[in-house]
Amino acid sequence: MPAELACFEEPCRARFPITDVLYNCPRCGGLLEAVYPAPHESAAEWKALWRARRASNAPIDQSGVWRYREFLPFLEDYSRVVTLREGNTPILEGPRAADYAGLDRLFFKHQGFNPTGSFKDNGMTCGVAQALRLGAQRVACVSTGNTSASMAAYASAAGLDPIIFLPHGNISFGKLAQALEYGARTLQVEANFDQILALVRQLAERLNIYLLNSINPFRIEGQKTIMLEMMDQRDWRVPDWVVLPGGNLGNTSAFGKAFREMRELGLIDRLPRLAVIQAAGAAPFYNLWRAHDQSSLHAIAHPETLATAIKIGDPVSWPKALHEVKVSGGVVEMVTEQEIADAKAIIGKCGIGCEPASAATLAGLKKLVSTKVVPSHADTIAVLTGNVLKDQDYIYHYHTGVLQAPDGGSITGNFANTPVLVQCDFNAIEVVLR
Ligand code: F0G
Repeated sequence: MPAELACFEEPCRARFPITDVLYNCPRCGGLLEAVYPAPHESAAEWKALWRARRASNAPIDQSGVWRYREFLPFLEDYSRVVTLREGNTPILEGPRAADYAGLDRLFFKHQGFNPTGSFKDNGMTCGVAQALRLGAQRVACVSTGNTSASMAAYASAAGLDPIIFLPHGNISFGKLAQALEYGARTLQVEANFDQILALVRQLAERLNIYLLNSINPFRIEGQKTIMLEMMDQRDWRVPDWVVLPGGNLGNTSAFGKAFREMRELGLIDRLPRLAVIQAAGAAPFYNLWRAHDQSSLHAIAHPETLATAIKIGDPVSWPKALHEVKVSGGVVEMVTEQEIADAKAIIGKCGIGCEPASAATLAGLKKLVSTKVVPSHADTIAVLTGNVLKDQDYIYHYHTGVLQAPDGGSITGNFANTPVLVQCDFNAIEVVLR
């Protein structure tokens, strides 16, 4: 039995050939996922193979995604895979951040070390590989910035034509700049992420463009390797908690699937708990989590947050994400703009740094420790999803005390590090430094 696409909805579970161009189940409209036959090798054999590949100079082995190709065997031929050496991101300890959250220790899996500066690269190398396999010429995505930067890079590297749709005025300049530099046709649309995604799904079908949003199941396969690589780096010691920001909820879906599959394959013996953190102004998944009736998500028509990466009111992957959080025994939490801003400055002060959406993890952890959901001795990993240089305006505004919340309220620079203007004069500088 080869790899297949399967409907994620339990009563349906319809199966389709892996080479069908589908984003939703044609029978019931459910989300799709890649499924695989049971492997012939043992967990121990795979662990040894993956470890040995770290010494290889073959590009496909140097990729922190394709090194683990047995874990995502949707391709038959790897000769056309395009890798920019994605993945390979470090686990960094942040003692100051641990202190801030009330934890004994805290580790960050920093996806901002990826080639285009975010976790999207793990999934994009797979989405683009599938696009090549299907013979697509044009690929498209709607993005709050990071997906577009990543897609632009990988599609251009693969010789495809990338088309990007962005919510005009609502993505950071750094991310827009990347899309332009990597050569994507870039359309700025006067609408929010959710509105544009609904439109582009129709456009993609009509104009025969391959869609590379996280609804694409192959992107999810690639993002599974974030957790697989992390477990390999931890010598397969399962953490108690994995904390991540939630926007369109592709990552939550991918992490949950990764851990379930790792357990099924005998690579690990238990699941860590997932904690998904949303920004208070864009928290439809948090609302769903707290709701009595969890059968449908109530979209937020006008999501608002300065963490523009997660400014999403109608997350497409919520059914998968809800399943994964429940199965893992996890939680969903939300945090304010002030909490995100301060947490971000603390992560910066660790010498680590990240973009605003990523800092929701530390802000959320602080809350979860204070409410005793996460004990202070818990073995905890927070996933930093994007690089510190992705959103420089935010940083400068925070440290100079002029950062404003979307509702116009001011954000206090509780940990501001304001630059000092001095004259080019020995005595004046001496006064400042004393
Ligand atoms: N963090 C960053 C830095 C992101 O760019 C995103 C999503 C998320 C977290 C949320 O991840 O959607 O899997 O829950 N950015 C998308 C984009 C939506 O278009 O770049 P998610």
